[in-house]
Amino acid sequence: MEFQYIIVDPSFKKHIALVRLNRPKELNALNLQLMLELKSAFASLDEDDEVRCIIITGNEQAFAAGADIKQMENKNAIDLLKIDQFETWDQIRKTKKPIIAAVSGFALGGGCELAMTCDMIIASESAKFGQPEIKIGIMPGAGGTQRLTRAVGKALAMEMVLTGKFISAEEAQKAGLVNKVVPEEIYLDEAVKLANEVAMMSPISVRLAKESVLKAFESGLQEGLYFERKNFYMCFTSEDQKEGMSAFVEKRKPNFTGN
Ligand code: CAA
Repeated sequence: MEFQYIIVDPSFKKHIALVRLNRPKELNALNLQLMLELKSAFASLDEDDEVRCIIITGNEQAFAAGADIKQMENKNAIDLLKIDQFETWDQIRKTKKPIIAAVSGFALGGGCELAMTCDMIIASESAKFGQPEIKIGIMPGAGGTQRLTRAVGKALAMEMVLTGKFISAEEAQKAGLVNKVVPEEIYLDEAVKLANEVAMMSPISVRLAKESVLKAFESGLQEGLYFERKNFYMCFTSEDQKEGMSAFVEKRKPNFTGN
């Protein structure tokens, strides 16, 4: 897959694809072209049966410093409405395969929102998370006020959104935004480790389980429980359920095929 602003390796490791944001001079600022490329890459990785988990990363200095301010500077509301600026984020959110964000350096504005759109976050010790849009006369627009609040709670989300303050990787982990913080030299390896654990599971139950966890953010408890139950039953239509359970009984490792 050839792109201008991202590098995609569908077979980075067995069953693991890597997507790297690649606008280093602009700290991986998310311009429209880059977001369209991401949308297209995720859609194609979602279709690829060999891929069971996707890692998205930037570089040591920046995961992404936000939406491209220079591209937005002279736009008006109707321009943004026509471009449908955030439709690409919605599409990425719909990816069925699990996505791990491996974050180092700045994850700000749309960059923080992109990381939060992923399913899990591994951060390097140098990672800084923030929603600094308030400092440039706007506010978060790609989920920052919603996903950040759900992840870290009202008090911290309000402080970050209203003052633009950054939090460190350690603070982000304490607040529940990040799964694990590791030294900068190994943050990608750590994301691969986590991706490997997920990739060993049945792709069908992983897909149904991801869908069910996300449902918790979009529904009331009763509706969520009902959704979960249906997906639980659905697992029993797969060969992987038979394989997983017989492997347990036969005291061997399961070999999940995604059927
Ligand atoms: N958009 C466009 N260009 C950006 C950018 C962005 N979000 N962030 C950084 N850059 C560019 C800078 O303009 C600079 O380019 P030039 O060399 O051509 O001047 C280059 O990247 C390096 O940046 P700095 O020189 O500023 O680097 P620094 O180390 O001094 O500061 C920083 C780093 C604190 C991240 C600072 O760049 C910064 O504050 N960036 C903007 C962060 C921000 O406000 N993000 C939110 C954007 S709006 C948004 O995301 C809306 C939404 O909800 C989707």
